Amino acid sequence: CGIVGYVGRTSGRADAGHGALDVVLEGLRRLEYRGYDSAGVAVVADGEIFSRKKSGKLSNLLAELEARPLPASLTGIGHTRWATHGGPTDQNAHPHLSDGGKLAVIHNGIIENFAELKQELLAKGVVFESETDTEVAAALLGDIFRNKLNGDVSDGGLTTAMQLACQRLEGAFTLLAVHADQPDVVVAARRNSPLVVGLGEGENFLGSDVSGFIDYTRRAVELGQDQIVTITADTVEITDFYGAPAEGKEYHVDWDPASAEKGGFASFMEKEIHDQPDAVAQTLLGRSDLNGKLTLDELRIDPALLKKVDKIIVLACGTAAYAGMVAKYAIENWCRIPTEVELAHEFRYRDPIVGPNTLVVSISQSGETMDTLMAVRYAREQGAITVSICNTNGSTIPRESDAVLYTHAGPEIAVASTKAFLAQITAAYLLGLYLAQLRGNIFSGQIKDVLADLGKIPAKIQKILDNAGELRDLARSMKDEKSVLFLGRHVGYPVALEGALKLKEIAYLHAEGFAAGELKHGPIALIEEGQPVFVVVPSPRGRDSLHSKVVSNIQEIRARGARTLVIAEEGDEAVRDYAEHVFYVPETPTLLMPLLTTVPLQIFACELAAAKGFDVDQPRNLAKSVTVE
Ligand code: G6P
Repeated sequence: CGIVGYVGRTSGRADAGHGALDVVLEGLRRLEYRGYDSAGVAVVADGEIFSRKKSGKLSNLLAELEARPLPASLTGIGHTRWATHGGPTDQNAHPHLSDGGKLAVIHNGIIENFAELKQELLAKGVVFESETDTEVAAALLGDIFRNKLNGDVSDGGLTTAMQLACQRLEGAFTLLAVHADQPDVVVAARRNSPLVVGLGEGENFLGSDVSGFIDYTRRAVELGQDQIVTITADTVEITDFYGAPAEGKEYHVDWDPASAEKGGFASFMEKEIHDQPDAVAQTLLGRSDLNGKLTLDELRIDPALLKKVDKIIVLACGTAAYAGMVAKYAIENWCRIPTEVELAHEFRYRDPIVGPNTLVVSISQSGETMDTLMAVRYAREQGAITVSICNTNGSTIPRESDAVLYTHAGPEIAVASTKAFLAQITAAYLLGLYLAQLRGNIFSGQIKDVLADLGKIPAKIQKILDNAGELRDLARSMKDEKSVLFLGRHVGYPVALEGALKLKEIAYLHAEGFAAGELKHGPIALIEEGQPVFVVVPSPRGRDSLHSKVVSNIQEIRARGARTLVIAEEGDEAVRDYAEHVFYVPETPTLLMPLLTTVPLQIFACELAAAKGFDVDQPRNLAKSVTVE
């Protein structure tokens, strides 16, 4: 989500005439790429909170403000939403109000213990209007401010209330709050979610990133983890969640507004590749308890039905279908349920065998891909149970499915999918583990171990991103290649397919992925002097001597003149002798390896396409969501 906060003095900006609302709306316009499900603002004026919010794009909110204008104000907050809890409706839009309409809160992130807090507040008689975790945070803050602190603002009541509230919240969040009784402050908190302060003269700003205020100031302050900041027009005070004073780190923003939206990266695709640690972490968040038990409460399907499932069919298109192929290995391994993966557009035209005990899992970033939607409809008509893995809350495929497991990758802007892919794999793993847990296929200790390994993935992705220099150099040096091949085996096979797809999509380069074992049955005839081949090598610690078989494949193509570019696990020395380049990824269990081995291939494609001078975010002939069959 995109978040903006502002407090100004006199008429706000030095060049006058701009109140809080203008500044907040300008910030939201810049931040709209972070979410466009709904937008909302709140300002403080005449001892009251005034708020407007609308589902859909920011333009809907602007129309609402035109129809129902807000009074002039010096203090305001604004939000553009990418829905996680609750669909993209007016009611679920932010801000959420509490304390009798005197407190307004906006939020980015996921509050993991919201259900428990909601129960507690319901018992106290609080009435909720939305399905969001944000409203729970707003109610908690309002309750503390009113009942614990008696609404006392003399001692910075809202800041204290925010500290007390944050002590109770679990998960990842950025929260911003304004209160009618403290008209000249905005209080904000952050844990595992972004928030930056912008320093002005006689005015201060908050933003989920610097684009929120880049038109007004270049002086920014980075907040640390678990910190609270209170801004007024002239002051910025930072504490931890227990009130101890803390320091922020000031820096100068030299990005232009367009590159600020891309987090300083050259393209959205590059930014989204770098968003991946977060996309995986957010998708894992709140879906298991401390004992390592999966708690997929959102999967509102009778467990008795899920226990009876005797076949799983994964339906998707493009990159999402490769996520499905990865999922098959894990689901079959953990659940022992036969799992097929099929391109959605092929599925319904071949009279597939689907019945009431068939679980159809569709995977779609957009939730609008027509091929996938039609296949889901068909499966439902045949009586299957349908679960959607989707990144876009409230989109058509989840709405037409029995249940949905959202990936929390945040909006993906670049046409070629990257962070959604890793989030899809992560969500599919969670679904597989959940089914295994439900059916008693694996020991709870084993589930706990897999979850712990998944929890380590974000840091491992980060390590790959931090060490990609050589890979980038190689990509640039290969910009005039005519063809690149990709080989992989087991879970490395879909990774090879995805690596090839990325190159086709954005570098317009002939690229093909093969199962490494299939090499000898045909593709090896393609190998000639200088042919670049990426090989995704399984872990040497894995079973069934797969590793040595793939190493043999590398030798075979090398002997025929191929340039061998190898993705292998750290410590795998055996590949070195046959590889022109080796790109190492951190150790991880075999089934989880795609979450790491895909990343170098994404970076390679992005860098090569950029070196060719192509627009990597909007490749020719392609669309982000294809709503025709
Ligand atoms: C289009 C996009 C691909 C994407 C596919 C599936 O073809 O260009 O990048 O993988 O659709 O999209 P979905 O939104 O269903 O995941």
